[in-house]
Amino acid sequence: MSDNNNIGDDNNVVALVESLEICAERAGDIVPDIFADFFERDDGARQLMEHSDQLMQGRMFESVLELLMNDELFGEDSYLDWELDNHLVAYAATPGMYQSFFDSIVQVVRDGLGADWNERYAAAWQARIDKIMERVNAFSAAAKA
Ligand code: HEM
Repeated sequence: MSDNNNIGDDNNVVALVESLEICAERAGDIVPDIFADFFERDDGARQLMEHSDQLMQGRMFESVLELLMNDELFGEDSYLDWELDNHLVAYAATPGMYQSFFDSIVQVVRDGLGADWNERYAAAWQARIDKIMERVNAFSAAAKA
């Protein structure tokens, strides 16, 4: 489960936003770096998104940030389910690609923060991502059943 640390979800969101703000101040627009890391990490994802442009990538990243910050978007029959229907069914994206994408985001934010990256940020990102991945995996398993 996601609560493998001592901070609640609200605190996780606060920590996540804080890390993103510091990262934006230091590194500016991180979207190109995130997608570069994602495509290097996951060749299937690279092939799937071969034709995506930076605007589309920016919109996708914005949606991911909204998800990371708002629990209401990823319960059952929520925005995430609708998005998963598109992604897993129509695009043939996989849960592994979701994990890769989140790993890339964390990697780039961690690099952006350098010495200011800390355990609190790491735990907050991990907890939020675990929660979303739980739903991605459950949705994927149900879709295959
Ligand atoms: C929580 C994670 C994700 C969210 C919220 C999300 C959201 C979105 C959104 C909103 C768009 C439409 C952008 C637009 O054109 O306005 C999009 C497009 C797309 N996404 Fe994602 N996405 C996620 C993860 C992924 C992953 C892991 C993959 C795997 C490769 C993927 C593959 C694609 C593809 C192929 C498109 C269409 C690209 C195109 O039209 O050229 N997405 N995504």
